[in-house]
Amino acid sequence: MTTKELIGKVVCITGAAGGIGSAIARAFAGAGTNLALLDLNEEGLSRLANELRGKRTPPISVSTAVADLSTEQGVKSGIAEVLSAFGNRIDILVANVGFLIAQRFEELTAEHWQHGFALNFFTHVYACQAAIPLMKQQGGGSIIFTGSDQGLQPDAGLGPYAQAKAAVHSLVKMLARELPSDGILVSAVAPGMTRTPLVERLMEGYAREFGTDSKTAEKLELQRRGVPLGRLGEPEEVAEAVLYLATAPYCNGTILNISGGNVRSVTS
Ligand SMILES: NC(=O)c1ccc[n+]([C@@H]2O[C@H](COP(=O)([O-])OP(=O)(O)OC[C@H]3O[C@@H](n4cnc5c(N)ncnc54)[C@H](O)[C@@H]3O)[C@@H](O)[C@H]2O)c1
Repeated sequence: MTTKELIGKVVCITGAAGGIGSAIARAFAGAGTNLALLDLNEEGLSRLANELRGKRTPPISVSTAVADLSTEQGVKSGIAEVLSAFGNRIDILVANVGFLIAQRFEELTAEHWQHGFALNFFTHVYACQAAIPLMKQQGGGSIIFTGSDQGLQPDAGLGPYAQAKAAVHSLVKMLARELPSDGILVSAVAPGMTRTPLVERLMEGYAREFGTDSKTAEKLELQRRGVPLGRLGEPEEVAEAVLYLATAPYCNGTILNISGGNVRSVTS
């Protein structure tokens, strides 16, 4: 598929108001897709929707729903609401919402584990439960998750985030075996540290740990992890990879790592 064939498709993005979500929304808007956007951040969502509605001639349609995506009810009613503008059509689901919990194992409570898995794993299960029957009715579709290099190669102090991301990657591999007979392809991007509000908060924590400012903490953390490119990724670089997966007909079960070479494994 070429990006031209994306024109008029309906793309549903969770966590759309965030750094990576909004870059993905801009990339699809640039390719002429209609957008169904979900987030808890009402102001961010409405700012983004207004920006995107004016982005192309002829204009694309953008529908939004404010939803708490940490619960099954929030995900399912949010997706139903946002897709109603498109007669329940969904060609591409980008299951992107996520929340970083960065604490060492001994500091983590049951609540941390439950919330970490709610917003980094179960939310995607519920989104798939909502999207897959609609895609089957239409004769196909595509699902792309935002995984993480932490799901492939966990660093210290990133539980339960890293474990939930590993579970997402496992879900990708399983669905990629179950769904192609219904014309549905499933893949994920696995970004390394990318310049978004999520990483800004992470750097504030590292700055306290290192006793430095956030800018210096960023350099030190990139060195500590041994990221070969020695810089953060940009949200637009992740968005380009999502667009690639959405148009690559032989990518299924693919976990596309975009980590500046941080992931050492030869198996992902
Ligand atoms: N930034 C990185 O370094 C990085 C690296 C690898 C993977 N990721 C993944 O990329 C995805 C996007 O992260 P980001 O960096 O853009 O983060 P971000 O914090 O900029 O965006 C996250 C978005 O999720 C929304 N959100 C949070 N809790 C919610 C809830 N309960 N209900 C609905 N929406 C909620 C926030 O309002 C925000 O708009 C996540 O899955 C994250 O794990 C990020």
